[in-house]
Amino acid sequence: MLVYRPSGLSTWRLLLSFLFVAAWDAGSGQVHYSVSEEAKHGTFVGRIAQDLGLELAELVPRLFRIASKGRGDFLEVNLQNGILFVNSRIDREELCGRRAECSIHLEVIVDRPLQVFHVEVEVKDINDNRPVFSTSEQKLSILESQPLDSRFPLEGASDADIGENAILTYGLSSNEFFTLDIINKKDKGKLPVLVLSKLLDREENPQLRLLLTATDEGKPELTGSVTLLILVLDANDNAPVFDQTVYEVKMYENSANQTLVIWLNASDADEGINKEVIYSFSSLVPSTIRRKFLINERTGEVRINDAIDFEDSNTYEIHVDVTDKGNLPMVGHCTILVEILDENDNSPVVVVTSLALPVREDAQVGTVISLISVSDRDSGANGQVTCSLTPRVPFKLVSTFKNYYSLVLDSSLDREKVSEYALALIAKDGGSPSLSTSASVSVEVADVNDNAPTFAQPEYTVFVKENNPPGCHIFTVSARDADAQENALVSYSLVERRVGERALSSYVSVHAESGKVYVNGTLDYEENKFYEIEVQATDKGNPPMAGHCTVWVEILDANDNAPEITVTSLSLPVREDTQPSTVISLISVSDRDSGANGQIICFLTPNVPFKIVSTFKNYYSLVLDGTLDRESVSVYKLVVTARDGGSPSLSATASVSVEVADVNDNAPAFAQPEYTVFVKENNSPGCHIFTVSALLVLTLLLYTALRCSAPPSEGACGPVKPRLVCSSAVGSWSYSQERRQRVCSGEGPPKTDLMAFSPSLPPGLDREVEERQEAGSNHSGLVSSIDPSPLLEPFVIIIYYVLKQSSQVYAARVTRQIRLLIFLNKVIQTC
Ligand SMILES: *[C@@H]1O[C@H](CO)[C@@H](O)[C@H](O)[C@H]1NC(C)=O
Ligand SMILES: *[C@@H]1O[C@H](CO)[C@@H](O)[C@H](O)[C@H]1NC(C)=O
Ligand SMILES: *[C@@H]1O[C@H](CO)[C@@H](O)[C@H](O)[C@H]1NC(C)=O
Ligand SMILES: *[C@@H]1O[C@H](CO)[C@@H](O)[C@H](O)[C@H]1NC(C)=O
Repeated sequence: MLVYRPSGLSTWRLLLSFLFVAAWDAGSGQVHYSVSEEAKHGTFVGRIAQDLGLELAELVPRLFRIASKGRGDFLEVNLQNGILFVNSRIDREELCGRRAECSIHLEVIVDRPLQVFHVEVEVKDINDNRPVFSTSEQKLSILESQPLDSRFPLEGASDADIGENAILTYGLSSNEFFTLDIINKKDKGKLPVLVLSKLLDREENPQLRLLLTATDEGKPELTGSVTLLILVLDANDNAPVFDQTVYEVKMYENSANQTLVIWLNASDADEGINKEVIYSFSSLVPSTIRRKFLINERTGEVRINDAIDFEDSNTYEIHVDVTDKGNLPMVGHCTILVEILDENDNSPVVVVTSLALPVREDAQVGTVISLISVSDRDSGANGQVTCSLTPRVPFKLVSTFKNYYSLVLDSSLDREKVSEYALALIAKDGGSPSLSTSASVSVEVADVNDNAPTFAQPEYTVFVKENNPPGCHIFTVSARDADAQENALVSYSLVERRVGERALSSYVSVHAESGKVYVNGTLDYEENKFYEIEVQATDKGNPPMAGHCTVWVEILDANDNAPEITVTSLSLPVREDTQPSTVISLISVSDRDSGANGQIICFLTPNVPFKIVSTFKNYYSLVLDGTLDRESVSVYKLVVTARDGGSPSLSATASVSVEVADVNDNAPAFAQPEYTVFVKENNSPGCHIFTVSALLVLTLLLYTALRCSAPPSEGACGPVKPRLVCSSAVGSWSYSQERRQRVCSGEGPPKTDLMAFSPSLPPGLDREVEERQEAGSNHSGLVSSIDPSPLLEPFVIIIYYVLKQSSQVYAARVTRQIRLLIFLNKVIQTC
C-alpha cells in the first residue's frame, strides 16, 4: 500500500507530475470512476484491475497497490477480484470544500514491471448539508410606530453543499405583520428582507417570534431555519384604562373617616413612563363630592373624607380620570357609583299638634285631642315607626294614616279625680337595635260644673243663748265644691221661709261669701225655742249647682221672766163658819222661762190660818187651814210669793185680802141699785136703751180631752194654746173653740179638736153659783141654748179648763168679761 508521507509540498508536486506522466504513458487513457460521497463501506466503485488491463492473478505478485494523494484510505482494492470499493466515509465537503470539482486521485502501482496508473475517482456531491444560519436566533427591535413597508434586512443562510444542493430559497413562518422579500445578490446568494405589512402594536404583541427557513434544492431538499425574535418597542399610544367603566360600591353610612371606598387600578398598556398613571377626580365631580371623598392620585385608593349620611344623599356618582405620564398624556375614565346603605342612626321624630286642650271633663269618648305625626329619616325597617302610649290612661292612639295618629279620648274623664294627665308617647323604629323617642303630652282636664257644693254635714246644731247682742255671729257654714275656679266659687244664702208671722231672714242672715250666720236682732227663747235654718250654697258655674244644709239653732233659755201670779178668789168674804180645807182662792202661777228658770215655788205669808196647796203643777189652792173668827180677825192681808228656780231667781208677789164675813148677808149689787132709763115712746123695735154691768162669778172646771189622731212627732205637738172664744148673741151664747190651724208641724188637716162647751146655767141661777165638776166628767151635750133671762145679771166668767193630752196636762186660763147687751125685743110701753 502506498502510504502518503508528507515530505514537503514541492517534493509531492514533483512526484505527482512524474507519476502523471508515467500513467499517462503507460495507459491508454485515464480511468475515471465516480462515487457518491458518504457511500457505505464496501460500495463498489469500479473493476479497476480489469480496467487497467491487469490480470487478477498478477496483482498480488506484482504488488498491486494504490496510493492516493492527500488523506487516507477512502478507497481500497480487493486484490482477489480487482474491484475498487469504498473503504471509509468520504465527505466531499471535507475533501474539497466548496469547490465545484472534487475527485480523489489514485496512483495504482504494480511492479515487475513497474507501472503506474492514474485513476480519477470523482466524488459526487450528495445533498448532505442543510442550509445553516449563523445563529439560531436573530433579534430585531422594531418600534411599534414603524410605518408600513419598512424593510428590515436579514442575515441569510449558507449551505455547504454545492450546486443545486446549495441553492437556497427562503420562507417565513406565516404571520400577519411581515412578509419576506429576497434580494438576489450579484455575486452569490440571496438576501432575505422583512417587510412590515401590518402595523405593529406592542401592547398586543410585544414581541414576535418568526421562523425564517432556508431550503436548498438538493434531492431531498434540506432546510435550515432561524428564529426571528422581533421586539416591538413601545410608543405612548395607549390610554390608561380601568377594567370596568362603572364600579358599584355599597357601603354603610357613618363609615369611619378614611374608610376605603374602592381601590381603583387603572392599567396602561404602554410601558415605562407611558405606563405611569395619576388618578384624579374628573372635572365633572362637584365640590360636594370632592369634600366627601378623597382620591390618592398615586395609588388610586378612594377614601371617605367626611361624614357620610344616608339621609343627605344615598348615592354618589364619582367620575375618575386616570392620566399617564407620556409625552402626550392619555386619559382614561371610570365612574364609581357609591350606594350608601342605611343604618338606623335616626331616632323617630314625634310632632304633636294639640287640638282640643284642655279637654272638658264631659268630653265625649272619641274626642280627638291631639294629632300626632311620627317620622324617621331612616329608610326600610329602620324608618318604620310604631307608636305606643302610656298604659292605663283614658286615652288611646288611633292610627289615621300611615305615620299619623290621633290621640283620642277612650273613656270618660273626671277632673275631680285626675285633673291632668302626663302622657308619654313612645315612638320606636324597626331597626336593630331600634331607636325610640318619647314625647310627653300633657292633657289638662278642664272643669265642668258637675259638682254641687257640699257641706261637711247635712245638719248642724247650734246653741245660742237668748238675749244675745244684736247682729252677733253664731255659726259659720262652709261648703266645698270639687270643681275648679268659678265652678267652685261658693256663695251662701238663706232659704227663706216663714217663722210665725215673720220671715226667717228677719231673725238670721247668712253672709254670702264667708258663710257666717248672724242673728239679726235679739233672740227670745220665749218667742221661738229653735230655728231651722236652711242654708244654700251655690257655685258660680253655668248653670250653677247648689247644695243645702240645715242649721238647727237651739235657743238657750235665760232667766229673763219673772213669775206671774194670778189669784182668783172664790168666795169672798169668807164665812166665818167655813170649814177648814175649804178652798178660798185659786192661784195660778206661770213663768215664761223654761227649765229651772220656769220652775216656780209658791209660798204664803207665814202665821196665817191659810195654806197653799198645790193642786196641779202651777195651780194652787188657797185653802183654809184653821178656823176663822171674824170677831178676832176680820181681814187677812195675805201675800203670795212665787219664785222661780233661775239663778239668780226672780220672784213675784200677789196680795190677797181675805175678809171674814158673816153668813150670807152680803149681796153683790149693781153699782146702783136702780137705773132709770128713759125711752121715748114709739121706739124702733129692738133699740138699745141701756147697758147694765154687774159681776157674776162662775167657776167652771172643765175637763176635756185633746185628741191627736196621730202620735205626736217630736216637738210637733207643742204646747197647745186653745182659745175659747165667746160668741155672744141675744138668746144664745156658747163657748166655741177656734180650730187651731197648726198644732202639729206636719202637714194635713188640723188634727186637734177641742170640744165646744156651753155653760149649763140652770134657770134661777144664783149669783153665787159655784159649780165644780170632777175630772173625767162628761160635759158634752150641755145646753147650748139657754134662756137669756137669768143672764140679765152681770157676771164675770172665769173658766178653768184642763186639756188632757196623753199623759201630759196643759192648763190655760181664759178670762173674759162679757158685756151683755140688753135688747128690747119688743116695743115697750113707757114704764
Ligand atoms: C386594585 O388592586 C388592589 C391591590 O392589588 C386590590 O386590593 C384591589 O382590590 C384592586 N381593585 C379592584 C377594583 O380590583
Ligand atoms: C377626615 O380625615 C381627614 C384626614 O385626616 C381630615 O382632614 C378631615 O377633616 C376628616 N374629616 C372629618 C369629618 O373628620
Ligand atoms: C232685722 O229684721 C228687720 C225686720 O225684718 C229688718 O228691718 C232689719 O233690716 C233686719 N236687720 C238686719 C241687721 O238684718
Ligand atoms: C157622755 O154623754 C153622752 C151623751 O149624754 C154619752 O153618749 C156618753 O157615753 C157619755 N160619756 C161618758 C164618758 O160618760
